Parts: sequence; structure tokens; C-alpha cells
Amino acid sequence: MQTAHDSAALRPTVEAWRRDGETIGFVPTMGALHEGHLSLVRRARDLADRVVASIFVNPTQFNQAEDLAKYPRTPEQDAAALAEAGCDLLYMPTEEDVYPGGSAANATWVVPGGAAEGLEGAFRPGHFRGVATVVLKLFNLVRPDLAVFGEKDAQQLAVIRQMVRDLLVPVKILPGPTVREPDGLAMSSRNVRLSPQERQDALVLHRALEAAAQVVRREGPGGSADAVRAAMNAVLEPAVAERVARIDYAEVVDATTFQPIDRLPDPRKDPSQEPYLDQAGEIVLPLAVWIGETRLIDNLRLKIN
Ligand code: PAJ
Repeated sequence: MQTAHDSAALRPTVEAWRRDGETIGFVPTMGALHEGHLSLVRRARDLADRVVASIFVNPTQFNQAEDLAKYPRTPEQDAAALAEAGCDLLYMPTEEDVYPGGSAANATWVVPGGAAEGLEGAFRPGHFRGVATVVLKLFNLVRPDLAVFGEKDAQQLAVIRQMVRDLLVPVKILPGPTVREPDGLAMSSRNVRLSPQERQDALVLHRALEAAAQVVRREGPGGSADAVRAAMNAVLEPAVAERVARIDYAEVVDATTFQPIDRLPDPRKDPSQEPYLDQAGEIVLPLAVWIGETRLIDNLRLKIN
């Protein structure tokens, strides 16, 4: 595996691959890699001739300077894990390479609306502006044929798909399923911040999603989305009462638009009657819950049929 620390080192390699007619798959990350990230690299490996991964802790998507400063950094382990997973090129740029003149001097932004507006967009103002801007920059630097994003960050995935559609970005976006610990906790670079007790408490997110999935099955097509919200809250509330958890949101949204829905999709109905649904009729149950000082997000993606 090669490593490029700036675009001058990156460009000749990817250009040579492209000249040889090889397709390029791309996996952008912020490092502190775990099995979730590596599963995306393997997926890119299966789908493209060459795989580029990036590690860049993007300053413009953090709401708090403290969160940025605390973000875990493990570059040597990351490089070894990427090589092992079949990555051909690791792009690990400096801030100057991605933000000429520094991120504070950046004056042109991708400001996503629609799917970026609620939930994470509401609780973390400016977050998706930072994400969309850096992802477009990285696409322009790497010029991949396809890029793989994790369903763990379901709203981010929807926002990137929306950006690529709206701005006619010539990159195919592919999802990778959420990788979990054996007990159900979604893998996250932030999990290392949890104390052993909090690590146990954090299982409440997955339990809430499991309970909600049962209600989705019980309600069936056209059923009540509020019943699903209530099921999530019923599992979360005891933890809130004991002050081990604090809920930012527990929602039921359309997988494409990320707008909250009232009724579960009904594939038997004329799709034009349900304009908020994408063709697949998929819904997402996204959760954001604080466990102590750590904010965790998780979600479940369900197809109603
Ligand atoms: P980061 O949090 O490092 O995540 C990089 C990619 O890994 C994202 O597509 C994310 O959804 C995916 N991922 C994280 N945990 C996962 C898990 N448990 N299972 C499957 N995939 C998982 O997301 C970002 O970085 C940044 O916002 C970025 C897109 C790189 C822009 O800065």
C-alpha cells in the first residue's frame, strides 16, 4: 500500500490507474479505524479495481473545538489495518492540502438542505455543511468511480446521495451495512471514550432499536410510526430516569428524504399516494443518545413489505 500525504503525491498514482482503465473505489474516513471502516474498504475492493482510503479529521464538521481535539488518532495502526484490508493507496492529507490557506480561510461551501435539515442537522448546526464540503473536495482530489459510505451514519449517507444527485457529481454512492460488537453496540471511534459501566449502559440504544423493529413488524404496512417512536422511548426512558442516558432524538424517517413519517410505508398503495417514500419504501429509525459525556448515534434500516 502506498501512502500519499498531499495531492501532488496522490494524483500521479490515481491518474496512472485511470489511464490503464482501472476503476477506483474510495472510502473516506477520519481514522481511528475499526471493523466498520474496514468492512467498507473490503466492499470497495470487491466493487472496484483499485481502492483509495482517506484519513482526514475534518475540522469544519465539528461543532466543538474540544470534540475535534479529543478525536482519537491512531495513524500507524490505521495504515497497517488498511493494508491488510486490501487498500491500494492511503491518502492522509494535511489541512493545507484540503483547505488551501487553512480551514478558517475556506469561503465556498456546500450547504445541503432537505435530508440535512432535521436530526443531526438540527442538533449539530453546520455539521453537514462541513461533511458535504469536505466530501466534495475529496471526490475532486481522488476522482473515484464509486465511494462507499456506512449505514451507521444513515443521515450522512442520505445527505451525500442527495448532494451527488443535485450537483451531478459523477460518483456512484454505495452503502455498507453497520458493523456491530457481538453484544449489538454499533462500532464507533467514540466508543473508546465509554467507561466500563457506560459501555454496558450504551446497549440501551440497540435494545431500543430491537424493540422498535418488533413494533414495525406488528404494525405492518400503513401502521403507526408513533407506535414505533413510543417503543423506542419505552426502552430508553428508564435509562433517562436513572440519568445514565439523555435522548437527543429517537425518530422514524423516510430513508431517502430523512423526513419524519406518520405512517409506515404501504407497498400495496399507489406510490404517488406516498410522495415522501423512495421506491424501495425503506424507513430508518435513527437515534442519538448521550451516555455520560459521549454522544452515540445508531439506527435501524427497515424495508416494509
Ligand atoms: P468516520 O466517522 O471516520 O466514518 C467513515 C465511514 O465509516 C463512514 O462512511 C461511516 O458511516 C463508516 N462507519 C463508521 N462506523 C461504522 C460501522 N460501525 N459500520 C459500518 N460503517 C461505519 O463519517 C465520517 O468519518 C466523516 O464524516 C467523513 C465522511 C470521512 C467526512 O469527513
